[in-house]
Amino acid sequence: MSGSFWFRNAIFYQALVGSFKDTTGSGVGTLRGVIDKLDYLKWLGVDCLWLSPFYASPMRDDGYDIADYYSIHPDYGTMADFEELVAELKKRDMRIMTDLALNHTSIEHEWFQQSRLDPNGPYGDYYVWGDDAQRYPEIRIIFTDAEDSNWQWDETRGQYYFHRFYSHQPDLNYDNPLVHEEVFNILSFWMDKGLDGFRLDAIPYLYERDGVGGESLPETIEFIEKIRRFLDENYPDAIMLAEANQPPSETMEFFGKGDRFHMVFNFPLMPRLFQAFALGDASPIYNIMAAMPTLPENCQWGTFVRNHDELTLEMVDEGNRSLLYSAYLPDDSMRAHVGIARRLAPLMGQDRRKIELMYSLLLTMPGSPFLYYGDEIGMLDDTSLPDRDAVRTPMQWEPGPGAGFTTSSHPRRPIVGGKGISVAEQVDDPESLLNVVRTMVQERKAHPELGTAPFEAVESGHIGVLAFERGGLLCLHNFCDETVDLGMVELGPYGYAWIPVEAAED
Ligand code: GLC
Repeated sequence: MSGSFWFRNAIFYQALVGSFKDTTGSGVGTLRGVIDKLDYLKWLGVDCLWLSPFYASPMRDDGYDIADYYSIHPDYGTMADFEELVAELKKRDMRIMTDLALNHTSIEHEWFQQSRLDPNGPYGDYYVWGDDAQRYPEIRIIFTDAEDSNWQWDETRGQYYFHRFYSHQPDLNYDNPLVHEEVFNILSFWMDKGLDGFRLDAIPYLYERDGVGGESLPETIEFIEKIRRFLDENYPDAIMLAEANQPPSETMEFFGKGDRFHMVFNFPLMPRLFQAFALGDASPIYNIMAAMPTLPENCQWGTFVRNHDELTLEMVDEGNRSLLYSAYLPDDSMRAHVGIARRLAPLMGQDRRKIELMYSLLLTMPGSPFLYYGDEIGMLDDTSLPDRDAVRTPMQWEPGPGAGFTTSSHPRRPIVGGKGISVAEQVDDPESLLNVVRTMVQERKAHPELGTAPFEAVESGHIGVLAFERGGLLCLHNFCDETVDLGMVELGPYGYAWIPVEAAED
């Protein structure tokens, strides 16, 4: 079992290297740019940085299409820059997690190139090859808007290869023990650089079997346990965080008895938060919380409201999916895969009260909160951009053309801008969203019980108000556009309050 439980009370922050801070004038953010902004993250209260993939990649899926697990994308810098980043984080008593996509590689990965050329060679069996493009009919297509099959014909090898995501992302073959070995080598290589853990991307999909949907299979779970044992033995403080966008009961599988993942993103909760706003009704949150089993003692949820992907609606039932589309998708250009590619502020209609209410939920619901870069200043999105790039535009440090992100006049992704939407414009204003978020983060840290305390639902007496007790605090959230008088306290429209329970009882 891991030696320390730091992750159960940490504030996480997700940044995309390419969109955070450019130090070369190329229009693309760099690792050195991240180093330059560590003091900002420290000031904000961040304990652990999560970096999305920065490896060599053709960037057809923003780096989740890895071409070499052991090298840094040249646009982002060098291995020495990465090592310096880790050292600078440690100096500030901060931690770092990186992202590993182990389900698939890019077609440009050397393994795949060898595999397609030589079926009998050392890499011949590294991917899932077959002659039958109808095999595994039960396995769903994830990017339904971009792909119509999970198989892609490869002219060179004269066979089909299997892919869950884009056709340029062939799935690795986990029935091959050599692939397991590669995984452990990759984990060791990065852990030896001083990481604190990994987000394991698309983890439910490692194995395929005939006749089943191919998600969260026993074989996949067994391999996860193997990774966990490997880390526990060799890097006992390292944590594993699962991206497992699964129905609630299957999501729990990724915790196991505390012998699988330390953390799992709370995909079951996330859409319910948006639902409560759309309905002016707190019951979706009460209901999902009532259905949530208690976690093993050494585990923790990763609470999030937005990330680099679409606001996914894959696991939401038909009725609620239409509700969420009608509430949050005014225009079809914002649709990406089965979900909505928008940032938090636009989703909340740029209504400060709603944005703050969402942050209050993020910081008080069970779990450790994950902040998504740019949302703390209320950044807008650019829905004219392809795929999910709408929510991946450069961080806005200052007002003006390059937003303090770049000196280039042609950034790789356009700067969205907006009056008042930059760190420089908000940092000295105590009323700004940035300072309100920061104060809330400090408040959360002042109540470390919020890391692990159980969720105790409280009857609020009003359909639009969520009330619960956690760790000595009574937390109240009003999803209505009207003032609600709860007897002991009045909540303004979209108001929230964290009240010490003793005070509430007086
Ligand atoms: C994960 C990532 C997503 C990526 C996909 C395929 O879901 O979060 O951005 O497109 O995996 O790698």
